[in-house]
Amino acid sequence: MKLMMTDQVGRSRTASSEYAQYACLDELLDLQWPRTEAAAELSFIITTQVMELYFKLLHHEWAAACAKLDDNDVRGAIVDLRRGHGVQDALIASWEALRTLTPAEFDEFRDAFGAASGVQSELYRDLEQALGVPYPSRPRLPSLEEAATKLLERRGLTEGWRDVYAHCAEYPELIDLGEALFDAADRFTRWKQRHLLSVWRSMGAKQGSAGTSGADWLARGVHQKYLPELWDVRTECWA
Ligand code: HEM
Repeated sequence: MKLMMTDQVGRSRTASSEYAQYACLDELLDLQWPRTEAAAELSFIITTQVMELYFKLLHHEWAAACAKLDDNDVRGAIVDLRRGHGVQDALIASWEALRTLTPAEFDEFRDAFGAASGVQSELYRDLEQALGVPYPSRPRLPSLEEAATKLLERRGLTEGWRDVYAHCAEYPELIDLGEALFDAADRFTRWKQRHLLSVWRSMGAKQGSAGTSGADWLARGVHQKYLPELWDVRTECWA
């Protein structure tokens, strides 16, 4: 049985159950609008929406981790980062829903989204910013790289992660933090690798909808190292 509900601003709506009300399912399930009759378009739209929701959740976990680092709560930050790793694993696995998309299937709806492209994803840029990528034209956001650097400075470690990794036995908690941050950067890159594979599979080396060279352009991005200091110490700190 459907119930009539009135929300805080006086709008009426029907809701089928407390479950549907709690999770706003009526609204959520009304947000998928394929532009064509193509069978594969719904999976493209839903995968995009699912990933954007996970980007939002990941941003929430990383902002919490930054706040803990600012409070010198390293253990708490690691717990938040680990929760984030779970979200990132789900993000990487989400590519499975697009794994069978063939070029012919993609072509059936590609024109319908015009110049829309993931390049325009604000949440994706927020996450890159949190990993230390500078975007001077965007508002400042909590940054894991900055929060960790400041924490190491407060602990008198003037050479940052180099000091920590060169003396692992002295800093077990900071090593755990460094590895948890590295795990986040590693998973971010793995998402990009899976994206690149999906792009190759569904459109080969054709130009992207945002006007880039497509797979070629994305392949260059896969080589970008997030939190580079944590990659460099792997070369520098083992005699
Ligand atoms: C098989 C399906 C997909 C194809 C063929 C595809 C294709 C592309 C291409 C060619 C680009 C390069 C920019 C351009 O010229 O448009 C791009 C960028 C991007 N796409 Fe996708 N995409 C797909 C699915 C998705 C999904 C589901 C998401 C989820 C949100 C997504 C997010 C992004 C992001 C964030 C970028 C920017 C990457 C960066 O700046 O490094 N893509 N995509």
